[in-house]
Amino acid sequence: MFPHSTKKFNLRSRIIGVDQEVPLIDGRHVPYINLDNGASTPSFTDVLDIINKFMLYYSSVHRGTGFKSRLSTLAYDQAHEVIGRFVGADLETNTVIFGKNTTDAINKLAYRFPFSPDSVIITSLLEHHSNDLPWRNQAHVVHVRATPEGRLDEDDFDKQLANYGERVSMVAVTGASNVTGFLVPIHRLARKAHEVGAKIFVDASQLAPHRRVDMKPDDDPEHLDFVSISAHKMYAPFGTGALIGTKEMFLQSPPEYQGGGTVDIVTEDEVHWAGMPDRDEAGSPNVVGAVAMAAAAQILMEVGMANIAAHEEVLIAYTLKRLAEIPRVKIYGEPNPAKAHEKVGAIPFEVEGISHFLLAAILGYEGGIGVRSGCFCAHPYVVHLLNLADDASHTWRDQMLKGDKTNMPGLVRISFGCYNNTQDVDRLIEMLEIIIAGNYKGEYEVNKKTGEYTPVGYDDMFTDYFFLGT
Ligand SMILES: Cc1ncc(COP(=O)(O)O)c(C=O)c1O
Repeated sequence: MFPHSTKKFNLRSRIIGVDQEVPLIDGRHVPYINLDNGASTPSFTDVLDIINKFMLYYSSVHRGTGFKSRLSTLAYDQAHEVIGRFVGADLETNTVIFGKNTTDAINKLAYRFPFSPDSVIITSLLEHHSNDLPWRNQAHVVHVRATPEGRLDEDDFDKQLANYGERVSMVAVTGASNVTGFLVPIHRLARKAHEVGAKIFVDASQLAPHRRVDMKPDDDPEHLDFVSISAHKMYAPFGTGALIGTKEMFLQSPPEYQGGGTVDIVTEDEVHWAGMPDRDEAGSPNVVGAVAMAAAAQILMEVGMANIAAHEEVLIAYTLKRLAEIPRVKIYGEPNPAKAHEKVGAIPFEVEGISHFLLAAILGYEGGIGVRSGCFCAHPYVVHLLNLADDASHTWRDQMLKGDKTNMPGLVRISFGCYNNTQDVDRLIEMLEIIIAGNYKGEYEVNKKTGEYTPVGYDDMFTDYFFLGT
């Protein structure tokens, strides 16, 4: 069923904890099914192996003179180069800045970009809050509408761009929605943004694990000026993210975080800032995270993003078809299996008559299946997908503000990694059928503060599985 091209890489066996057994509330243990890769992926085993090897020589970077420091510095510098290659950046003119994650990267860019008081930032309704809130502090933000099923409304994009014209300094869009998985035509938008003299930033945190990110040459009209990615979404969960973009912009001004590592010379009254990326990587960097991220990027490049996309397309189509066969299930976004290629592997859905919080809880406690439910840090987008009336919105918003999340709207999202297979989906479908038939075992109670459900009288007994010690 899956294309031969990914089979030979045997990706499933290269994932840590892939068939790890977890407990269910009836006392049984089953292999965990992770359908929450959009939040964070597990680690590639190869990444951990590389880290274990590296740790023997790990030391401070850019500071020490010892062998280990010299080796660690080289590895850290190489990690920058690998990530640059991973996103197709020309490193003569662009820089790779390591930070914590995508949120960190976007805040940095929002702070460092030279907006003027008149500037307009065009973003979209599809965005994760991390690609929306940081911009709001910097300039006038305009949200491009979404179509009823959740695609970026390109006519509205064109309209907003024409309306604000040269005032648009930045177009900040996601590469793929973390809720519906819809791909955004980033290179077409880049061309249009450049025509009015704007720059484009692409939040590629959901794109990079599924599709090739290609910034293209600087003089290409479809060039992406800035891109961010998160290692914990690409099989290297060791605390690193990257912002990649034109060096020139960063060199124009001092960094927002200042201190050790960011300078060439400091006197009592003068500071000469370092070049890139040092200027924007204040303090001791997360070398281990950077090496892990680069190792994961190398594996993804070796497997080939086109092969991963082909594998996931088959899986998405299969899932959409199976979900559509279950009564009371409503799929949001694109439900047509023939259009699976238009999205990455995130599928939001609801079951009529069952709270998304409860459904997600039962899948976890009784199916050993990890999903996410709620609004996925994209409140305006989910409210749009659900087509919630404004007056109804006031009721649940007021309740939430008073500390009761019981009626918080939302969906259940399954999201795939390159290692998921049809058996994973079959287990999900089987469990959904049990839940919908009312044949689940637990009695669940809701925690008003969080909206989440837990089985009455059940104790997770986490210390039997992992204990940090006190
Ligand atoms: C589209 C998108 N943007 C940004 C983020 C934030 O990423 P991070 O948590 O790595 O900062 C996420 C996380 O889920 C996301 O899905």
